[in-house]
Amino acid sequence: MSEKAILQVGNNSYEFPLVKGTENEVAINIKTLRGATKGVITLDPGFKNTGSCESAITFLDGEKGILRYRGYSIEQLADNGSFLEVAYALIFGDLPNEAQLEKFHSDIKSKSVVDEDVKKIIDAFPKNAHPMGILSSLTSALVAFNPSSVNVDSEEEMYNAIVKIMGKLPVLVAWAMRKIKGLPLNYGSNSLGYIDNIMKMMFEKPNEEYVINPIIKNALDKLLILHADHEQNCSTSTVRIVGSSHAGLFASVSAGISALWGPLHGGANQAVLEMLEAIRADGGDTKKYMAKAKDKNDTFRLMGFGHRVYKNFDPRAKIIKIAADELLNDLGIDDPILDIARGLEQEALNDPYFVERKLYPNVDFYSGIIYRAMGIPVEMFTVMFALGRLPGWIAQWKEMRSRKEPIGRPRQIYTGENYREFIKLEKR
Ligand code: SDX
Repeated sequence: MSEKAILQVGNNSYEFPLVKGTENEVAINIKTLRGATKGVITLDPGFKNTGSCESAITFLDGEKGILRYRGYSIEQLADNGSFLEVAYALIFGDLPNEAQLEKFHSDIKSKSVVDEDVKKIIDAFPKNAHPMGILSSLTSALVAFNPSSVNVDSEEEMYNAIVKIMGKLPVLVAWAMRKIKGLPLNYGSNSLGYIDNIMKMMFEKPNEEYVINPIIKNALDKLLILHADHEQNCSTSTVRIVGSSHAGLFASVSAGISALWGPLHGGANQAVLEMLEAIRADGGDTKKYMAKAKDKNDTFRLMGFGHRVYKNFDPRAKIIKIAADELLNDLGIDDPILDIARGLEQEALNDPYFVERKLYPNVDFYSGIIYRAMGIPVEMFTVMFALGRLPGWIAQWKEMRSRKEPIGRPRQIYTGENYREFIKLEKR
């Protein structure tokens, strides 16, 4: 392949260098396009063909259904790693040794107390507030209690901001859930592991000792690993672009939480469960919903299906489907929703509309079934996605800031009115 691209605009042709990644992906570097062509730009709504950055964090191949964090396959990480190990690898580049992991966890624990005044903010929310709105607000509010912005040139300050948010976000996640369930706000215990502590904060009842169920703990650990990063998805791109203005890490993560909330993105896991419940209430008539999903006059989409990048099975969906089976078996739960999900998947995988468009189950299709089996309310599903995605957001923000990337400011093509004179009100 030649090392350059040639673009013909009118009678002029322009050369642009090619950029080749370590997995042989190729991009045309168009940094000089507008200057060289005296104003011509590219246009790509939704950035379906446009790379925003070079990144060394996550590699995915949508055609082959491959996903790797820092070169480690998602399958091996899910089978052998812990969420905290994976978070360390995403943020700092390599899997930690025992001493590094121990120090990381100990530093996180030392920063996991949230200012008591944050509880006053939670009290102000109505009980029916969506926990994603609570989480986004509280994460942004953390800036008020941690005002010093991160000097990214200082490794120590960067590290402190990282362990602070890794310590405090799980508390906010637990408090958001306890708020909507009407439970008193609590703390976990620094004597527990990272996931154990999250479970204690989320699930413990005020009148009984909380006992960790290892089956649920392992399933939650695996789920959070599977959600930990996914290159330049909508919410991660949001964290990067907000951070590119030199807004702080907490503010950037808060923006990412809001972007994740949308039903086309992380909000899909809640939408999937609501869809499956609607199908069940409708007598399990999956064919009716398949028809709705294919009807261009119907805004209904088969939630949990399709993906901007995966045109093959989402490798995470494969792992989660097996984990859902195992967890429900181990817990002795017979959830009819799982059968409806399986039926829907089989129908879609054999339906020309879905096959032609390469629409496969994505990470959100089965995850809600696991969360539900854990006793997590459906409104909390996307909050759990945010908890899992936190290390990825941190890693991507850190990479962007440490590379001193320019502020994100896309161009546009104007299609509005040409110049026209102002007309006084009395003459309009
Ligand atoms: C996540 O980007 C990431 O990495 C995200 C994520 C991560 O880890 O960060 O993987 C997490 O967000 C997973 C996706 C969760 N969203 C859903 O499950 C919502 C349902 N899916 C769709 O809305 C859709 O598939 C998207 C949003 C995921 C992707 O949309 P695209 O890439 O913009 O594709 P498109 O809307 O242009 O669809 C292409 C065609 C269209 O039909 P035609 O115009 O060609 O006739 O496929 C159809 C669409 O109508 N289509 C669907 C469909 N998804 C796409 N039709 C019915 N049901 C669907 N789910």
